[in-house]
Amino acid sequence: MNDVTLRLSGLSKTYLPGTPGEIQVLRGADLELRAGEAVALVAPSGAGKSTLLHIAGLLDTPDTGEVEIAGQGAMGKGDRTRTAIRRRDVGFVYQFHHLLPEFTALENIILPQLANGTSEKAAQVRAMQLLDRVGVSARAEHRPAALSGGEQQRVAFCRALANKPRVLLADEPTGNLDPETSDQVFAALMALVRDEGLSALIATHNLDLAARMDRMLRLEGGVLRPAE
Ligand SMILES: Nc1ncnc2c1ncn2[C@@H]1O[C@H](COP(=O)(O)OP(=O)(O)O)[C@@H](O)[C@H]1O
Ligand SMILES: [Mg+2]
Repeated sequence: MNDVTLRLSGLSKTYLPGTPGEIQVLRGADLELRAGEAVALVAPSGAGKSTLLHIAGLLDTPDTGEVEIAGQGAMGKGDRTRTAIRRRDVGFVYQFHHLLPEFTALENIILPQLANGTSEKAAQVRAMQLLDRVGVSARAEHRPAALSGGEQQRVAFCRALANKPRVLLADEPTGNLDPETSDQVFAALMALVRDEGLSALIATHNLDLAARMDRMLRLEGGVLRPAE
């Protein structure tokens, strides 16, 4: 089906194989993320959420299985092809913002666009629009250290979406924030995801936030199952 933007098939991943510390994190995980769909990934700490997201975003490779992004299979492809798919189609958000400290909020959103071949003028316009939509355009000229935790995450969302990816992968994006800020920042993220028509896979511990997405998957015993 061509409306599947991310397909994971039969993913397995074992860390430290053949040693006493061996951990089978994934044991045949499958997922179909459809265009425009926001899916929550819930599981306790250590269950393998970050591992799954890294593999889905082509930052790590599974032992077996396939990852297909926007219809293109990534396994068995060289690093250059995998990097190209990731740059074009995947946006990442982490628990920590990972913004470049020596650049302003605006520059942090412009830079990935310039690296992608966008003109400076167009990159600036897009960056300001994104900042405006998450309510931090007044802080555009500030460096990350001068922003609150919630503002830093909002800027990180803008950066992740700067190049108009098809898929957003978010790893506990509000995990560092207090509950009230977390709520508002999550709402800003969901509004962006909806506006941009993105598909999103968002790992979270927070079941209230998870319930606001289209559906919820639980990672349990190395496989993904629908959750209540
Ligand atoms: N690079 C690694 N080497 C060895 N073990 C790892 C590595 N990365 C993660 N693990 C282990 O794999 C399991 C799943 O980790 P992770 O994917 O980070 O889970 P989660 O994000 O759900 O907390 C944990 O037991 C963790 O210690
Ligand atoms: Mg994790």
